[in-house]
Amino acid sequence: MSSNQNPTSIAAPSAGTNAAAQGGASARPAPSTLEMAAQGPARLDSFTPIHKGMRRALFETALLLARTDFESPAETAAAEEATTTCLGYLREHAEHEDRHVIPRLAELDAALAAALEVDHPRLERAAIAIDTLWPRIGAAASGPARAALGRELVRRFQAFVAQQLQHMDREEREVMAVLWAGMTDAEIGAISGRIIADIPPARMAELMALILPALSRPEREAMTRRAA
Ligand SMILES: [Fe+2]
Repeated sequence: MSSNQNPTSIAAPSAGTNAAAQGGASARPAPSTLEMAAQGPARLDSFTPIHKGMRRALFETALLLARTDFESPAETAAAEEATTTCLGYLREHAEHEDRHVIPRLAELDAALAAALEVDHPRLERAAIAIDTLWPRIGAAASGPARAALGRELVRRFQAFVAQQLQHMDREEREVMAVLWAGMTDAEIGAISGRIIADIPPARMAELMALILPALSRPEREAMTRRAA
């Protein structure tokens, strides 16, 4: 980048575009990553590393679904198992946010908290719309009928991935900006600690196996240190 380029030229989507795409309302401009970095020393980011693991699950599941021959019961069963596992991770993640993050966010920014409270049920409805297709595929009368339902399932999952990506981006930009403005890193870390305390050790091991390979080396080392 030349020195006379505007460092904020890698802009975040406008708040209107971002919020409208997610069915929410927000008057604030979503901060760009460069604007957030310019605010000072790196702060504790309680969303992005976890979301990297969630995105890994979403992308790998999307690739598996795209490769699946839905006329094959064995391939369909494997795809259903992977999709159920992926949606399980996302559902747990949303529950943790609802229980531990949204109430604190509501004290700092009621409008943003209200918008995100709407987002999670909307995403859950999209997940249910995917879930409901598995028994229909199993009950379909012919191979071509199974394949047609499979194509619909793949499209619903792809749309779900797009919705999740926008939702997580909003949390990483807007929610973290609010938390950083209103809380210390120790307070943010305490919220993460309460979430971790809610997760049984065996499930935590599964989450770490998902998340750690999705991180950069510095992020992986920091998360491993915090978990020790
Ligand atoms: Fe969320």
